[in-house]
Amino acid sequence: MIKLDYSNLFQISVNHGLTEEELLKNSDSIADFLEKIHARKQGFYEILDDKAAAKKIRRFAEDNAGRYKHFVVLGIGGSALGTICIQQALTHLYKEQKLFVLDNVDPIMLKEIEEVIDPEKTLFIVVTKSGTTPETLAQYFYFRKKAPKENFVFITDPKKGLLREISEREEITTFDLPENVGGRFSVLTAVGLLPAALLGIDIYDLLAGARRSRSQFLSQNWNENLPFQLAAIQYLLSRKKKTINVLMPYAQKLMRLADWYQQLLAESIGKTEYIGLTPTSALGATDQHSQLQLFSDGPNDKLIIFIELANSKPEIKIPDPEVDFLKGVTFNKLLKTEKHGTEQALTKQDRPNLTIQIDQITPETLGELFMLFEGSIAFLGEFFQIDAFDQPGVELSKKITKELLQK
Ligand code: PA5
Repeated sequence: MIKLDYSNLFQISVNHGLTEEELLKNSDSIADFLEKIHARKQGFYEILDDKAAAKKIRRFAEDNAGRYKHFVVLGIGGSALGTICIQQALTHLYKEQKLFVLDNVDPIMLKEIEEVIDPEKTLFIVVTKSGTTPETLAQYFYFRKKAPKENFVFITDPKKGLLREISEREEITTFDLPENVGGRFSVLTAVGLLPAALLGIDIYDLLAGARRSRSQFLSQNWNENLPFQLAAIQYLLSRKKKTINVLMPYAQKLMRLADWYQQLLAESIGKTEYIGLTPTSALGATDQHSQLQLFSDGPNDKLIIFIELANSKPEIKIPDPEVDFLKGVTFNKLLKTEKHGTEQALTKQDRPNLTIQIDQITPETLGELFMLFEGSIAFLGEFFQIDAFDQPGVELSKKITKELLQK
């Protein structure tokens, strides 16, 4: 179960932190905000109940995982970041990779991936909600010349887009990305679940964790609704000029979660000249020796959101240290203490910070984190009175790119 500890905000001077009264003033808005969110008819919290979709994904993975040496995801933005995060969080950090995500069109990627994979022995998972994204289509056309159509599977909109047309024409196995789920909210659809299942990750556990967070998200009770609490804090602190949000996990395997969250926050909330939160990321303890100086003494314009593990495993002792302060200390305790030290130092410097605590990194806790953040972004949109689910700036760049290419 996720815990949210924002007690440090109350220790900081009122210009930079929050009082309990300020925070609780918003607790009456939950029902109203939930109503507004429901009215937007978004599917990101309903897809968790789609048993048929989960079953189809698992069956496909069971039938196909052993048939291929590698899996290559062709996709960009919301079609890639969730998978990158799942892979890092739930598979081995250093063993040879079975799955690669090509989320760019830099030709060097094509050259070097082909030095590693044999297209004939690779399953290409082509992911594009719109079915028209130039980067993803270009990659598809490229690899389609290298491998037979049986080596491709698509994830796209159920009705629209070129990829859907191709899938029907060429009879390529295709998973639906529901119409009412946008790219950056799609990690718990086939977009994230199919690659996860192919990697042997239990997608039912991911979904079960997400459903746990969803109950919190749908609760009208302030104490239970962690997504609402998080959004209220981000919003209120933005009013005190904390417009940069730093996600700082003290867990190597959650680095890519911060990348996924960057897109979610930036694309959902950056909507007018005066509305937007700038996401950035840091890694504990690594960034204590890098960005922490800025966080501690630079402009006081940031909210630091730590993620820590209550029970990191395995427990590993530091053997025979030649310094007293490491005697009897485990790496687990060292990392935890580093985080507590940083947190206390920042609080002393009047720098707002809070902690999201999970027990360990498992499919369930990752599912919980995805939904915590997606739910909080939905609430944040209502706090700012904007549509958190569109991305006109992204669409404009796609449109201009296509026009330029045609000239
Ligand atoms: O969140 C979004 O909608 C975007 O970032 C998309 O994920 C990204 O532009 C890729 O689009 P598509 O999935 O249509 O290829």
